[in-house]
Amino acid sequence: RLTPVILSGGSGSRLWPLSRELYPKQLLPLMSPDHTMLQATVQRLAGIADLDRLLVICNEAHRFLVAEQLRAIGETDPAILLEPLARNTAPAVCLAALHALHDDSDALLLVLPADHVIADTAAFQQAVAQGRGDALDGALVTFGIVPTRPETGYGYIRAEVGDGPTRGVAEFVEKPDLETAQGYLAAGGYYWNSGMFLFRAQRFVDELEQFAPEMVSACRGALDGAERDLDFVRLAREPLEPCPSNSIDYAVMERTRNARVVPMDAGWSDVGSWDALQSAGAPDADGNVTVGDVLAHDSRGNYLRAESRLLATVGLEDSVVVETADAVLVARRDRVQDVKAIVERLRAEG
Ligand code: GDD
Ligand code: MG
Repeated sequence: RLTPVILSGGSGSRLWPLSRELYPKQLLPLMSPDHTMLQATVQRLAGIADLDRLLVICNEAHRFLVAEQLRAIGETDPAILLEPLARNTAPAVCLAALHALHDDSDALLLVLPADHVIADTAAFQQAVAQGRGDALDGALVTFGIVPTRPETGYGYIRAEVGDGPTRGVAEFVEKPDLETAQGYLAAGGYYWNSGMFLFRAQRFVDELEQFAPEMVSACRGALDGAERDLDFVRLAREPLEPCPSNSIDYAVMERTRNARVVPMDAGWSDVGSWDALQSAGAPDADGNVTVGDVLAHDSRGNYLRAESRLLATVGLEDSVVVETADAVLVARRDRVQDVKAIVERLRAEG
């Protein structure tokens, strides 16, 4: 049985001003007006064989939004683990793994970020099916995307030579610097880590135990002390406070000797920044991606989004304009990674 684990704890600060602390991107209808990214992540699972109960792990502050969005698409009985504080993805996955192991010592986990676009659901499901055997045999299975640019916000996987549907992982490097990423693209044979994983829950806990035992014990403590009610598992705060904060990529994937990769061509996109959103959208004849009430005159290569009133541009190029009721972002397209800095300043200034 396969337990889908959806990580829904990030804040998506690079998508400010649409994404806010109380309304992060995975809970927004970013890509389509009909469903949020969290809902799309769940709907993409329909058809996978032997699915067990859905498990979502998110911040306490988002519990009602998450529960309501799941209910709205017919997920009436998910397990929802609530984190009183965020400690990044290594503890989040560990908490999910320990929770799943409580009911089923053979649990197999399919870990999915709640904020990705996958255009080709069938190809995604096929990749999951291809990775399943290796995961059952004890591998930590990753899903690799053929890189198209030297993106520094991703993990890179060097695959061993081979032509089977799954390959060994010779090296996993999380978020390399630009020069290194350029080298990888030139060398070939590298994949982007898509951020989705498939493995036995016990296998993951064993690996993490080797590299960060204090994390595993903090997670055990948080679950032992958890309060369970009808809808939520509220993890205990005190044991999590001293838990180190780290991602699964740095904490486990860079260090394990048991990783494998399934190359996947499924129209995957991490809509991490406005630029990525533009790439994932459908541009008009002038290369503008527009959302909402937008009038673009003699303007090219822009991402223009109007949430609450008319947005008009004249002679604007390669820019991002995002209008919301209480904040407007205007940025050069090649600087959108730095939107984070705005969020940090706002946070600091309270
Ligand atoms: N529950 C929970 N708790 N979820 C979290 C937490 C946390 O503390 N921190 C992050 N998440 C969720 C995010 O909401 C997102 O869905 C997912 O975990 C991944 O976290 P990100 O913070 O978005 O990671 P990243 O984009 O920097 O890097 C990861 O994804 C890339 C592809 O998108 C890595 O796995 C990279 O190697 C990968 O290339
Ligand atoms: Mg991400």
